Amino acid sequence: MRKILVASSKGGCGKTTIATNLAAYFAQDGKRTVLVDADRQGSSMHWAEKRAGMSAPVLAISGLRADWNEKIPQDAQIVIIDGPAGIRSGEVAELAHDADALLVPLLPSRIDLEASEHFLQEVSRLGRVKRESLAVGLVANRLKPWTTASQEAVEEIKRLPFPLVAQLRDTQGYVLVAGLGKSIFDYNSEIIRGHQEDWGKLLRWVKKQG
Ligand SMILES: Nc1ncnc2c1ncn2[C@@H]1O[C@H](COP(=O)(O)OP(=O)(O)O)[C@@H](O)[C@H]1O
Ligand SMILES: [Mg+2]
Repeated sequence: MRKILVASSKGGCGKTTIATNLAAYFAQDGKRTVLVDADRQGSSMHWAEKRAGMSAPVLAISGLRADWNEKIPQDAQIVIIDGPAGIRSGEVAELAHDADALLVPLLPSRIDLEASEHFLQEVSRLGRVKRESLAVGLVANRLKPWTTASQEAVEEIKRLPFPLVAQLRDTQGYVLVAGLGKSIFDYNSEIIRGHQEDWGKLLRWVKKQG
């Protein structure tokens, strides 16, 4: 069973978008996939409810109750945890205690990067991160590659002490499909295929963990 936590101290950076798209990718790939929603807003739970009845279902479990780990079926192959807003490193340590990887989404603006710096410092001090038993990957999200702000942010992110494992562009596609309980991996148009390619490196990185 491979476990991936998506977390950041910042709200609105793309945790749910990344968690739901990852879950759908693995479900499409035929893996028994569980999505744990640890955020009070319950966006991942709602997303999975809308997905019920589709061909690549994802089992959603609320991560708000202390015993959520026991609710994960023994035969699950992939568990994705959608972290709560405002998470501190102590909670990360708890949620990720047996996870294989932590993905941290980052938005491409100086203010957002500065807001995440402290969180990343805390993460780098976690015992499991120091011992390299918990891999940390950074995801630049909502990039507008033609803008100076995005280009500078990517350069800045590359200087951080964790690998940049994906550069996801800003597209209404993510917003539209999320509202339907879907992901970009549930579609096959030329435009969407371009966005699927943005995930190639991230998917290879995730598959290497654990
Ligand atoms: N790459 C992207 N392109 C366009 N919109 C995005 C992208 N990633 C996230 N969003 C949108 O930004 C908002 C916040 O994203 P969300 O995944 O809910 O963040 P979080 O879970 O960290 O609060 C949502 O409306 C979502 O659809
Ligand atoms: Mg969310």
